[in-house]
Amino acid sequence: MSEDAIRLIGLSYAYPDGTRALDGVDLRIGEGEKVGLVGPNGAGKSTLLLHLNAILRGDGSVKIFGLETGPPNLKEIRRRVGLVFQDPDDQLFMPTVFEDVAFGPLQMGLPEDEVKGRVEEALGRVRLGGYEDKAPHHLSDGEKRGVAIATVLSMDPRMLVLDEPTSNLDPRGRRSLIRILMNLPQTQLIATHDLDLILEVCERCVVLDGGVVVADGRSVAILSDRDLMEGHGLEVPHSIHHLNTGEH
Ligand SMILES: Nc1ncnc2c1ncn2[C@@H]1O[C@H](COP(=O)(O)OP(=O)(O)OP(=O)(O)O)[C@@H](O)[C@H]1O
Ligand SMILES: [Mg+2]
Repeated sequence: MSEDAIRLIGLSYAYPDGTRALDGVDLRIGEGEKVGLVGPNGAGKSTLLLHLNAILRGDGSVKIFGLETGPPNLKEIRRRVGLVFQDPDDQLFMPTVFEDVAFGPLQMGLPEDEVKGRVEEALGRVRLGGYEDKAPHHLSDGEKRGVAIATVLSMDPRMLVLDEPTSNLDPRGRRSLIRILMNLPQTQLIATHDLDLILEVCERCVVLDGGVVVADGRSVAILSDRDLMEGHGLEVPHSIHHLNTGEH
């Protein structure tokens, strides 16, 4: 059996104001799996993702490739897990795009030439070659999203954790991101309301609601289960709906 990339046991988390965002989550994701994470607004998706590189620490156990996410392992965990935040403004903090995308590789101690090469490649993949000297806060929302994704691609992490990666992307940017994700061999966990992206990229899908995993299985089966989807504030995507009903 392949190694577990993610292993959560009884993960619970309450924010300081008392909001209970996760309520005993058990989840196991094998290395190389691509898994979609869906659920209504406020389900706890982002909160869950923030535990995977120990930005938040709840009760229960979080293991990444067998390593517990406590302080002694923080550096190694953050090398392994490339997390793209829901809000790019949380990701981009350097004066230029180049410095933001170079930040991870520099932290990893890579030589300057390699850092430059990685920045160029990562920006090229998100179609933002030539943006190196721009200030991230001057970019459009979609451009910021692209740079945020590049900051993670440049680190070539063992696992990609993406929170709403397609929001604000135009159709061409979305299509090229889907292609990138399909072609990358790494383990991926993708929280999104873009259910068609899940159908294309992720064989497996987990539904979270009220801080609890309410379903876990093959994406096609989960996303076409109308009762399940509507029971949790979601809807069967049109692409499947049409398949089932023969409508056009
Ligand atoms: N900093 C915070 N302080 C207090 N409560 C918070 C905080 N951040 C999130 N919450 C609450 O925790 C719950 C889970 O929020 P979370 O952002 O994880 O949901 P989500 O599934 O990512 O939703 P969305 O689809 O809107 O991104 C919500 O009830 C939210 O109001
Ligand atoms: Mg969220």
